[in-house]
Amino acid sequence: MSKMYYRISQGVYVLTTFGGGCIVDAVSQISSGENPLISIAIMKENYTNELAHNNTKLILSVLGKKVDGKLIENFGYHSMKDFNKFEGIETMDVDGIKVPLDSLGYMELEVEERIENETHTLIIARCQNGKTLNEDDEELTYQFFRKHKEEYIKTKNEEGKTVWVCTVCGYTYEGEELPEGFTCPVCGVDSSYFEKK
Ligand SMILES: Cc1cc2nc3c(=O)[nH]c(=O)nc-3n(C[C@H](O)[C@H](O)[C@H](O)COP(=O)(O)O)c2cc1C
Repeated sequence: MSKMYYRISQGVYVLTTFGGGCIVDAVSQISSGENPLISIAIMKENYTNELAHNNTKLILSVLGKKVDGKLIENFGYHSMKDFNKFEGIETMDVDGIKVPLDSLGYMELEVEERIENETHTLIIARCQNGKTLNEDDEELTYQFFRKHKEEYIKTKNEEGKTVWVCTVCGYTYEGEELPEGFTCPVCGVDSSYFEKK
């Protein structure tokens, strides 16, 4: 599997709507001008996918490098299906939608189209409005986040052990280092596909 796609520059965002939201990086600007079109790919298995089918108004918050890792942890590694992501997160209200305060700012989007494939829904939405919240930080890129993940996300479990996650199937392994020649017992990929949780 080619990892060249890791080199496509993307940002890290929080997408919220009525009832929840999640971290997304698969965001792209399609058109420019007063009301640009933005595309966002949302995994079908995510609760946010259901919310993005039931609502047409979405808020996309742009995260900065100095963001509190708890925001990424709550919104990117937990599901609203069984976890209240908003607990302990400071938010503001934008037309009834909870929006995290800890961002560079946000865009208000109106969904125009949804394109379905096997695993994802590609949402195409028009940017109606936007607001800057913080000018003293720069955009967090997905590449920077991956490189500094341990500074943002706790990689140890309650017993203090490091947890490694298979990026292909989600299998987890506990231990400081992966053993020599380790392959995933579930899907068979080698250790280069494992990341610290
Ligand atoms: C850095 C990062 C980028 C992510 N990018 C996306 C994305 O583009 N699309 C997506 O559907 N999920 C993405 N996720 C995963 C979701 O945020 C995650 O599965 C979340 O727990 C879903 O929560 P939900 O079930 O409440 O919707 C990303 C997670 C992280 C940490």
